[in-house]
Amino acid sequence: MIRKYSIKELLNKGKFLIDQKVLVEGWIRSFRYSIFIILNDGSTINNLQIILSKKLDKKIIKKITIGSSIRVIGIVKKSIGKKQYIELKSLDIIIYESVDPEIIQKSILQPKKHSFEKLREQAHLRFKTNIFSCVMRIRHHIAFCIHKYFHEHGFFYLHTPIITTSNCEGVGRMFQITTMNLKNQPIDYTKDFFKCKTYLSVSGQLEAETASLGLGKVYTFGPVFRAENSNTSRHLSEFWMIEPEIAFYHLDENINLAENFIKFVIKYILENSMEDLTFLDQRLEKCSKKNRLLEKLELILKFPFKRISYTEVIKIFDQEEKKKNIKFLHPIVWGMDLQSEHEQYLVDKYFKTPVVIFDYPCNIKAFYMRMNNDGKTVRAMDILFPEIGEIIGGSQREERYDILLQRMKDTNTDKKKLWWYLDTRRFGSVPHSGFGLGFDRIVQFITGMNNIRDVIPFPRTPNNAEF
Ligand code: 4AD
Ligand code: MG
Repeated sequence: MIRKYSIKELLNKGKFLIDQKVLVEGWIRSFRYSIFIILNDGSTINNLQIILSKKLDKKIIKKITIGSSIRVIGIVKKSIGKKQYIELKSLDIIIYESVDPEIIQKSILQPKKHSFEKLREQAHLRFKTNIFSCVMRIRHHIAFCIHKYFHEHGFFYLHTPIITTSNCEGVGRMFQITTMNLKNQPIDYTKDFFKCKTYLSVSGQLEAETASLGLGKVYTFGPVFRAENSNTSRHLSEFWMIEPEIAFYHLDENINLAENFIKFVIKYILENSMEDLTFLDQRLEKCSKKNRLLEKLELILKFPFKRISYTEVIKIFDQEEKKKNIKFLHPIVWGMDLQSEHEQYLVDKYFKTPVVIFDYPCNIKAFYMRMNNDGKTVRAMDILFPEIGEIIGGSQREERYDILLQRMKDTNTDKKKLWWYLDTRRFGSVPHSGFGLGFDRIVQFITGMNNIRDVIPFPRTPNNAEF
């Protein structure tokens, strides 16, 4: 039996396999002088060079085209070229499918520079490109190390429902789901599948809270859906979110966890995805004159995140505007939400480090956040990152029954629908906290991609649900 290797395995173990017979499979990246095939199978950014035997039939040579899928049995040889340590001397080649060169020319697989927009139009093929395969491999490693982090810190992975009746965040629009025939008006939702109006969830937090109040430490990691008409480079209509929720936890502990967690993820990727990161670093540097990716990531690990209250932030903006250091397009006063120009100024220009803003005005935050003694602010915290803006949003939760009830009234939150959530505040309620990390946003930051649509396999955005 001849052993089959992935190209990654073969390149890693190559030194010890010299003169051995092996089998590899992959897609042809290039074919030169009717003798050199450059092969890739997606397992690594690196390619394997294959040397064909000179006796190959002309008919077969004709079929060896870019994009074609092949199987090769060959002997591992030490390469004479400097680019690679080993190469494969082919003994036998099978072509699974030969691709018509004319088709390749019209596709993103033609070896030349294509715009990211073009790659998105052929999203079903972009897994075969260098840049997107790097992003996808890194995306996998980020997901893996997130589970690793929480598992090693005593958290339980919780699956919260995707179908829901409540809007946790109370803002934006939700996608409704129904099996009713919408032609029959008016619609009686008591006859719908669930006997009520249902939606795709915007967050698993409320359910995660109930679980944390029994299991102590839990986290969710799943898709969430928001029907906001935000056509920006940081918004998706379907995105993935990680939401840890911890009982007996105050806001400062919550911020410590978030900072420690995010630094762990970045460190893990620096230690485990260096080949892909280096490729992206070099590619992105050519595209734009941005900070070098690796330096940018290492910088995040170096210093503690700046922690500052919302009220202090507004004071800084006031001072800076008075000193004429900055003039915002949207001037900001206490009580208003920060826009991306304010976030950028704070993170990129003023502090030059990630910033944690806490104690926001209650009127711009969700009903479940814990009210401070001033009666005006809540124990919210957002973490702002360079390039990305808000990467994490979290809070200490309102654990006091009466105050929570009042907040639900003030924010027009339907207490009948959320009876079960309120109820948890009567069965051994405790201070507890949690946050949500936008998974696609952390992938975007780590890979340095400009647009969030280029870090998820098939982006869902306003006017677009193709593939
Ligand atoms: O700030 P958000 O809306 O917080 C929540 O949903 C809370 N329930 C989380 C919690 O406390 N358990 O969203 C959390 C994060 C944001 O900071 C951002 O990174 C990301 O989710 N996010 C988006 N990512 C991509 N596309 C969108 N449309 C996003 N909206 C939010
Ligand atoms: Mg938020």
